[in-house]
Amino acid sequence: MKKIRAAITGVGAYVPDFVLTNELLEKMVDTTSDWIESRTGIKERRILKGEGQGVTVMAEQAVLELLRKTNTDPMDVELVILASVTPDMIFPASANILCDKIGMKNAWGFDLEAACSGFIYALNTASKFIETGTHKKVIVVGADKMSAIIDYTDRATCIIFGDGAGAVLLEPNDEGLGFQDAILKSDGSGRQFLYQKAGGSAYPPNEETVSHHEHYVHQEGQTVFKFAVTNMADVSYEIMERNQLKADDIAWLAAHQANKRIIDATAQRMGLPAEKIMMNIERYGNTTNGTIPLLLHEYESKLKKGDNIIISAFGGGFTWGSLYLKWAY
Ligand code: UT7
Repeated sequence: MKKIRAAITGVGAYVPDFVLTNELLEKMVDTTSDWIESRTGIKERRILKGEGQGVTVMAEQAVLELLRKTNTDPMDVELVILASVTPDMIFPASANILCDKIGMKNAWGFDLEAACSGFIYALNTASKFIETGTHKKVIVVGADKMSAIIDYTDRATCIIFGDGAGAVLLEPNDEGLGFQDAILKSDGSGRQFLYQKAGGSAYPPNEETVSHHEHYVHQEGQTVFKFAVTNMADVSYEIMERNQLKADDIAWLAAHQANKRIIDATAQRMGLPAEKIMMNIERYGNTTNGTIPLLLHEYESKLKKGDNIIISAFGGGFTWGSLYLKWAY
């Protein structure tokens, strides 16, 4: 019997209309457009505006596009995993809200939280439901409304993050295409370098947590940068070695868009030239769980059946990892 693998069979994405440029940020905090671009590669990012507009507003648009493109009936979707650090609310899961909004009435679903690595953790989790043969149509969403948890008086974080969403459909493949291997890691001792302190059960919201800005992202950028450069490059190289892949065998690297310098260092370690690196950080910044599906969406027309793709991420936790897949269409 042929081995069943999980393959991505379509991609949808959505970014909100409002563009927050570096020039606008110059008017909000003590920074310059040149500093932001040279230190991160970011020129602008998108922001979701409007009262009561949560992450499922963007996820809904991404999934609607995905269903349209893949000609999928919402009633045929069996499972939805939504990776996000900014769910509409702590509970119920945004995956459940999304299923209701779209009419995916036969699907069960849950949210998965692994900071910036959430989307690759979710892809690996979802692929198991396909590989075991229990599910035929699984949607994985990566979406974040980072503007909901960013302090726009903190120049160390507000220049980096943006809002956006993407979604992929996973289906069985018996031609040897789809997910081939995964290396996922975590190290919770890194938790104090990138986190949102309050709002959970350890520090529930009160006047003090609000006045101390503890509901916003706190990042010690330099420390995170050092761990990100080393770990994302190492794990990307490790997955190449483990699968006997040379740089020439790899068609594309889709790496989490946190900082262009981190992505370039990873590509250099893998021996990949710039033309094999998916990049859109200049337009969207770091959309946390949105970065990788937004990349796949943007580069979809350039991908060929059988292309070897490495997907890598690093984020808070710390969490990180790499996936190796063969593109299926
Ligand atoms: O997605 C999850 C994982 N996250 C990441 O991978 C992010 C990793 N970190 C980074 O990308 C970078 O550390 C940052 C982009 C956040 C910061 O860049 P950096 O090169 O590490 O800057 P730094 O924090 O070392 O600061 C260098 C200087 C400092 O001034 P002094 O002390 O040298 O005088 C900062 O005060 O730049 C200053 N600075 C700024 N200047 C203008 C810090 N932020 C800004 C700013 N505009 N926005």
